[in-house]
Amino acid sequence: MILVGVMPDSFVPLRLPTKTSPDTPAPVRARVYIETYGCQMNVADTDLITGMFAQEGHERTEDAALADVILLNTCAIREKAEERVLARAQELRVHKKRRQGVVIGITGCMAEHLKEKLLERAPYVDVIAGPDSYRRLAHLVEQAREEGGDRDPLVDVRLDKRETYEGMNPAAGGDGVSGFITIQRGCDKFCTFCIVPFTRGRERGTPPREILRQARALAAAGYREVALLGQTVNSYRFEEARFSDLLRAVAQVPGIERVRFTSPYPVDFTDDVIAAIAEEPKICKHVHLPLQSGSDRVLARMKRGYTYADFERISRELRRAVPRVAITTDILVGFCGETEEDHAQTISVMRALRFDGAFTFAYSERPGTMAAKRIADDVADEVKKRRLTEVIQLQESISAEVMESHVGRTEPVLLHAVSRRSDGELVGRTDTFKAVIVSRGTHAPGDLVNVQIERATSATLFGNVV
Ligand code: 5AD
Repeated sequence: MILVGVMPDSFVPLRLPTKTSPDTPAPVRARVYIETYGCQMNVADTDLITGMFAQEGHERTEDAALADVILLNTCAIREKAEERVLARAQELRVHKKRRQGVVIGITGCMAEHLKEKLLERAPYVDVIAGPDSYRRLAHLVEQAREEGGDRDPLVDVRLDKRETYEGMNPAAGGDGVSGFITIQRGCDKFCTFCIVPFTRGRERGTPPREILRQARALAAAGYREVALLGQTVNSYRFEEARFSDLLRAVAQVPGIERVRFTSPYPVDFTDDVIAAIAEEPKICKHVHLPLQSGSDRVLARMKRGYTYADFERISRELRRAVPRVAITTDILVGFCGETEEDHAQTISVMRALRFDGAFTFAYSERPGTMAAKRIADDVADEVKKRRLTEVIQLQESISAEVMESHVGRTEPVLLHAVSRRSDGELVGRTDTFKAVIVSRGTHAPGDLVNVQIERATSATLFGNVV
């Protein structure tokens, strides 16, 4: 998961309007500004929205002051995520005061979570659209613009268990080297702490033909890597097609050199998926496997569906089949009823499993979830904070050791972009998802090179192309 708000994405070139028939008046062309918050799926959804607006004849702008339409594509996973969006919407509201007719919309998970209640905090919002409403979003926005300021806000938060956005063309996003494909939407797991099943609805797989169509389109646009996205991506199923079949099929698409996926659900990590990672060289040797807690009592209360022993067995099998695999995780501290002993178990498990990296969170109660309804959020904020600091510090020291162990090795690296620090350097990734800096030489983003690793910090490797 990307855990920071992704500020305006890279500029997306315009596509010409497709509505050219003389009988259908083209809608008034609007400039659309979009900010994205939350996970990779939201980043991919922003590309989907951008592609649709372009098709309707609108264009994307990176400057909110020039925009006719301002959209915030939001996240509801923690309370803080929602607070940030409300603060940002309040800031962006000035554009509505300065220029007549500017429309502000809140899309995505927070729109779905709060629905009309959002208006109590942000009465100036014109459009509220959930994650299954994007096919209608351009029209909703056009309607809001036509009707002007004196109408009720337009709210479309219908969830649709068949919507996979098949046939829509997402705008080219990201760095032009690695592209996302959403292969599954929604979630059926209902972990007690998690809002996602309520904001994104039931799990559904995108048809394989659509996934392959998008993979070929990315390859044709020069992308070298595809990342397959889903809330529990390895539970993917479409008729007879399993996740492992899909991984192998995408790896066969000419031009695609690397296939990633995120995030798998531990219990659904079956042998056929492990075999695909082990056997297919283009499938990256990195698995993000969210553990959450090392204590069986906490895992049971979270309704994760596995014990620590189950998780340990899956990671052991992965490491046996794919010896250089990198395993990263999510750790959630301070869940309802978590004792010092539970926390100590998480710490000891982290020492035992030695994850390559971890995203770490303090529990934040989400209205509507099973935990909010049935279990007391009884770990004090200071205690959550202290436990969070402990897991962060432990993981930093483990990550630093893991990074150091790469020094001296030669690793395949896909170069993604010119480094932000220096024009003379390129940044890339190993297939184990470590960031690597090399000097530019004659290389360019999109090149797949072998790099001899010379030194490491806890976050970055440095090396030379060999
Ligand atoms: N509070 C804090 N963290 C949460 N996560 C999910 N729900 C919550 C919550 N209510 C974390 C989990 C999940 C990651 C995406 O976010 O660790 O794996």
